[in-house]
Amino acid sequence: MKKLIIANWKMNPVSLKEAQKMMAGLKAGLKNSKVEVVVCPPFVYLTSFKFQVLSFKLGAQNCFWENRGAFTGEVSVKMLKDTGVKYVILGHSERRIIMGETAGQVNKKIKAVLQSGLVPVVCFGESLEEKQQGKSFVSIEKELKEMLEKISKENVAKIIFAYEPDWAIGTGNNCSSDDALTMALFVKKIMGEVYGKKVKESVRVLYGGSIGADNALSYLENEAISGLLVGGASLNIKKFLDIVENI
Ligand code: PGA
Repeated sequence: MKKLIIANWKMNPVSLKEAQKMMAGLKAGLKNSKVEVVVCPPFVYLTSFKFQVLSFKLGAQNCFWENRGAFTGEVSVKMLKDTGVKYVILGHSERRIIMGETAGQVNKKIKAVLQSGLVPVVCFGESLEEKQQGKSFVSIEKELKEMLEKISKENVAKIIFAYEPDWAIGTGNNCSSDDALTMALFVKKIMGEVYGKKVKESVRVLYGGSIGADNALSYLENEAISGLLVGGASLNIKKFLDIVENI
């Protein structure tokens, strides 16, 4: 299976004009057909790319779990689907830490995204404190089980997981490729225990946190890591293309 590289633009850039320039740069520069690329711009820019022929897919950075109604400021999966997105990032650590999003809320969002036929990209990862206290594995197992509550194994198999330790995001302090691999294998082990061998083998786990052209390849050597979630480096199209075109 092709490695999956997801660009998470977060709350950037600040104008549509800039977003269009970035997309044009990607369209012109992406040549590597051995990888699947997904770009996740802010919601407000999505519709302007809807009818364009792109060599990559579009994703969203969040969604709400209801389809419509009195939920001021929220965007539903149904609306997102209409903009042409295929993937939705859920439970990103910035949403958990800054916006106070809980595992229970992420669980509802995962269910809504799965029901719509889009693909959830579910982020998980330990805090620096948990890591320092040697609690990474315990906390991640708990977090995953809460986020996946009452989701069938057929549906769990459709989820893409992204290991994004809080301490590695936007810090320049990337997790070593060995540790990321250990975590990907740990997630697969849990999936095997809870959902069986088939899910264990097929589930995709990405790594994200301070990825750049200098370290990207080291994560992709092992087939247990199915791809990367790239934040900061995806805003510089040249840097992002360096990552993708070198795979
Ligand atoms: P970063 O962000 O690459 O800037 O560390 C990754 C992410 O938040 O998905």
